Amino acid sequence: MYVGTTVNQFIIEEQRRYAAGARGDFSLLISDIVIACKAISNAVRRGGLADVLGHAGTENVQGEAQKKLDVLSNEVFLRCNQWGGRLAAMASEEMVDVYRLPAQYPRGKYLLLFDPLDGSTNVDVNGVIGTIFSVLRCPEGVTEPHVEDFMQPGTQQIAAGMAIYGPQTILVLTMGHGVNGFTLDDTIGEFVLTHPDMHMPAEAVEFAINSANARFWAPPVKRYIDECLAGKDGPRGRDFNMRWMGAMVGDVYRLLCRGGVFMYPWDSKNAERGGKLRLMYEANPISFLIEQAGGAATTGTQRILDIKPSGLHQRVPVILGSKNEVERIIAYHREG
Ligand code: AHG
Ligand code: MN
Ligand code: MN
Repeated sequence: MYVGTTVNQFIIEEQRRYAAGARGDFSLLISDIVIACKAISNAVRRGGLADVLGHAGTENVQGEAQKKLDVLSNEVFLRCNQWGGRLAAMASEEMVDVYRLPAQYPRGKYLLLFDPLDGSTNVDVNGVIGTIFSVLRCPEGVTEPHVEDFMQPGTQQIAAGMAIYGPQTILVLTMGHGVNGFTLDDTIGEFVLTHPDMHMPAEAVEFAINSANARFWAPPVKRYIDECLAGKDGPRGRDFNMRWMGAMVGDVYRLLCRGGVFMYPWDSKNAERGGKLRLMYEANPISFLIEQAGGAATTGTQRILDIKPSGLHQRVPVILGSKNEVERIIAYHREG
């Protein structure tokens, strides 16, 4: 019987290729992340049967009501990743501060940031949801990292990825040498390489934006969307299509498959907070994936991966996807 390339095999072979002599710490770290994603995928699939739907009755640091699955996924991630000796600390959307590892576990050289459950509002309606993660190197000599140790621009990410819990459970991963997609094969309990070397087209015919916020958008974003909506009759001379899944992981996976633009841009409603999406565990890892697949990611005025972070839960405007479209939107911002 033929078994395809498992994610573990893939990572180890990738390390042999690019980091000869590596001790394998990194592949072990990714395999723990993978176990966490499998466990979350299982809970998601059982849904009401496992009593994981609905509200937890608590709020996170952003003042958002937590779903039971937000809390559960966060706990799963901590439990799977704290014991192995590869990490020095973790941080998550669902925790105010840096998560220090319990004293009994050895300290490693990496930092892990994650959004345990992206698209929480989709949980109870059986919509697509996912998990996003980002791996940074812990600064040399630091064994009990503080917030400052996490404040590294996205260009410093060692790896990033997302798991998508949709009709299939898919893991998309980059370690800085392209993007690869793996599908969870329930019969063997492993993620198997199904989407090698993902590349998105430079041109797009689809855009994703929450148009309920249209009246709050800045002029450059309004201009871009108006031109898309004008279709064949407008300056773009072709028709566009619109999709919005309510979970960035779902929209971004579509972009990786067939191109397009995803935006949660600056708007006058979220101006004070800096944006809607969080830099460290949403915008950065997703931008790393998008760039590695040949796309681009910007706030409108700055490359997302170049932002010097100022806080764990900092928010930023996000515009990403097919390169030519993103460059057009950047040009509109420059023109004002
Ligand atoms: P989260 O569930 O982790 O809070 O993130 C949800 C994010 C993102 O995934 C999605 O694209 C966006 O918020 C949805 O925003 P709207 O509620 O405005 O549709
Ligand atoms: Mn999210
Ligand atoms: Mn979340």
